Amino acid sequence: VKTTVSVIKADIGSFPGHSRTHPKILELAAQRLKEAEGKIIIDSHVTHCGDDLELIMTHTKGEDNEEIHKLAWDIFMECAGVAKEMKLYGAGQDLLGDAFSGNVKGMGPGVAEMEFEERGSDPVLIFMADKTEPGAWNYFLYKIFADPFSTSGLVIDPSMHQGFTFEVHDVIEKRRIRFNTPEESYSLLAYIGAPSRYVIKYVWKRDGTIAASTSTQRLNLMAGRYVGKDDPVMIVRAQSGFPSVGEVIDPFRTPILVAGWMRGSHHGPFMPVGVCDANCTQFDGPPRVICLGFQVSNGKLIGPADMFDDPAFDRVREQCCELSSMLRAHGPFEPHRLSLEEMEYTTLPGVEKQFKDRWEDLPE
Ligand code: 13P
Ligand code: 13P
Ligand code: MG
Ligand code: MG
Ligand code: MG
Ligand code: MG
Repeated sequence: VKTTVSVIKADIGSFPGHSRTHPKILELAAQRLKEAEGKIIIDSHVTHCGDDLELIMTHTKGEDNEEIHKLAWDIFMECAGVAKEMKLYGAGQDLLGDAFSGNVKGMGPGVAEMEFEERGSDPVLIFMADKTEPGAWNYFLYKIFADPFSTSGLVIDPSMHQGFTFEVHDVIEKRRIRFNTPEESYSLLAYIGAPSRYVIKYVWKRDGTIAASTSTQRLNLMAGRYVGKDDPVMIVRAQSGFPSVGEVIDPFRTPILVAGWMRGSHHGPFMPVGVCDANCTQFDGPPRVICLGFQVSNGKLIGPADMFDDPAFDRVREQCCELSSMLRAHGPFEPHRLSLEEMEYTTLPGVEKQFKDRWEDLPE
């Protein structure tokens, strides 16, 4: 029987402002998942990245299962109720609908899932981000699964030497395409280098074995209004035919710039942190990412290991602080502020509306 790992997340309210989830909410969610263990799910772990509540679940029901999605939805609704009582900030923020209809997709929460036959030993890494968009994973997934200067196994491990298949979603036109690496890596990069539109959804081994799965939901496109950033999650399998654990996390030592941060409207450095530092503070950020490592054993989650709670990542954190100062110095100017095309999904159009009658045509 196959094991499914489901990571379903939502921002259901936080304190103060958009900085972190409340411990009462984490406790309640963990308790509800515990109650479901042995019934709907096998095992669970609850954590947060910034203001996003992260439900990690294992079960045998496959992806897109109604019972699993309803369990998550009901927990988010109940937690949002508690958040409302405490008048937490943005209580119920990511819950766009109120009637569950079989699947949380399109309703606000982010979802990454994968179903697989457990190997003799199955290390799984779960990445969770705050203050950024799903395309933030693109750079890292390329480095992990397609860059031989990053993942040495692509060159020296015969079980990885044939490369991987990437599925890319166009979140604007709602279409998908697959590319095989290494032979189509330039074509893949032509798309995923524009991460606000083209987002890697899955990576497989060339024989079809699942390697990575991400959440691709774009909240503002679904809601048709500004509701913060998507704050995506990602599941990656490691070792024995996949990149090793160290090859999966090493790319996060590079401080790349991602879209999100303050008011979902700025570029900022993506800072890997331990769970104890997974709170978005300075200018509501900088955007952060945590990684929890588990061994999946007959559906049990052995762990977690807090992968970025490690001095080996101190330097990138310092570099992120430096980049943060450099970008913040731009104030309201691009490229700190997102491009106008991206600003369409923020609160800026509301400001422009106030001046629409004051513009005059230039003389010929
Ligand atoms: P160990 O000798 O510590 O098991 O290391 C094996 C390995 O392949 C590390 O990448
Ligand atoms: P979140 O998507 O994390 O709620 O961020 C919203 C925001 O406006 C931060 O400044
Ligand atoms: Mg929020
Ligand atoms: Mg447990
Ligand atoms: Mg958030
Ligand atoms: Mg958000």
